[in-house]
Amino acid sequence: MQFPLLLPTLLFGQVLGQTLDDPDRDHAWAPAGPGDFRGPCPMMNTLANHGFIQRDGANITRENAVNGLREGLNFNPDLSNIMFDQAIIANPEPNATYFTLDQLNVHNLLEHDASLSRSDAYFGNNHVFNQTVFDETKKWWQGPIINANMLANSKVARQLSSKAFNPTYVFTQLTEEFSLGEVVAPVIAFGDIEAVTVNRTLVEYFFENERLPTVLGWKKREDVISLSTIFHATSVLRNATSLFTDSKAVLSKRKLSRNSHFG
Ligand code: HEM
Ligand code: MG
Repeated sequence: MQFPLLLPTLLFGQVLGQTLDDPDRDHAWAPAGPGDFRGPCPMMNTLANHGFIQRDGANITRENAVNGLREGLNFNPDLSNIMFDQAIIANPEPNATYFTLDQLNVHNLLEHDASLSRSDAYFGNNHVFNQTVFDETKKWWQGPIINANMLANSKVARQLSSKAFNPTYVFTQLTEEFSLGEVVAPVIAFGDIEAVTVNRTLVEYFFENERLPTVLGWKKREDVISLSTIFHATSVLRNATSLFTDSKAVLSKRKLSRNSHFG
């Protein structure tokens, strides 16, 4: 929390009738106001909406990002530093020391096609939550628990849709690496990382409100999230994106179809 924001936040808390000793008073959710910056990342927007990073989404320094990701989600500083290093190219100034959330909007820099909840730049706004796109994504999340296979299917489906209908579709090997991390991110924040599963209700609430799903019973993870934690989940997701199966699965499906249709 930056010092200049402390006073208005305290005052706002009092207006809402909160007591000054409420430990969560600094992190009450509030949507972006006029003039605030937001971008294509639902989590950075969420952290700003809760004041874990600047509520106005402006001038996010390394220290702001590292502290915000630790306080909001229990990310380890080594991991957050790597993420900041990857993000700082968003600020076009040489030797920049901060980025703003709207600088993340530049198409084909960090923002890319086939997002789960945003439109491709070719079709319109590439950074504001888009319910139609998200509904397309949710179709692949069958059941109350989303697993790696469902996440992978939604990712591949969004890519297929963009490849088919967006003549400017770009999705490089590097995009794939970022995309895998983004698609598995809800598991990292809200789910069972070992099993690579996450409660669908939490994920939908998060995307649709850009708000941490505390009201649904979610709590910040007690274990620190490190790069190795993310590697595990990402590699399970990567495997799940393959459209091949092993021969056993193909045979059992054939058996199933013989039984049901011709048996
Ligand atoms: C997407 C930046 C941290 C979750 C994105 C995108 C950017 C971005 C540029 C847009 C990619 C696209 O076109 O879809 C950042 C930066 C971060 C950060 C700079 C920190 C320094 C996080 C964290 C999480 C997260 C900690 C959650 C644990 C997501 C998700 C998407 C996304 C779920 C995909 C949105 C979609 O496909 O619609 N992020 N991000 N991000 N990010 Fe982040
Ligand atoms: Mg995008």
